[in-house]
Amino acid sequence: MLVTGGAGFIGSRCVDHFVAKGHRVWVLDNLSSGPKANIHEWFAANWPEQA
Ligand SMILES: NC(=O)c1ccc[n+]([C@@H]2O[C@H](COP(=O)([O-])OP(=O)(O)OC[C@H]3O[C@@H](n4cnc5c(N)ncnc54)[C@H](O)[C@@H]3O)[C@@H](O)[C@H]2O)c1
Repeated sequence: MLVTGGAGFIGSRCVDHFVAKGHRVWVLDNLSSGPKANIHEWFAANWPEQA
């Protein structure tokens, strides 16, 4: 599952939803307006080197 703008307001909620449903999720986001903090929990859980 690819979520473009996944660090944004709507995108990050989509990421939460898809992860909760058991999907493996990728995010493409240039962080121009969405803060990385919106998806930080998933970085911390799965890719500690990028947290
Ligand atoms: N707390 C709140 O109520 C709140 C907070 C944020 C936004 N909003 C509102 O929610 C609505 C929708 O927000 P949204 O989620 O569409 O906007 P957003 O700006 O939160 O999300 C868009 C995402 O796309 C990314 N992006 C933009 N251009 C890109 C590019 N070329 N390549 C890769 N990534 C790119 C941005 O970095 C951002 O993470 C807006 O009306 C906004 O005002 C409300």
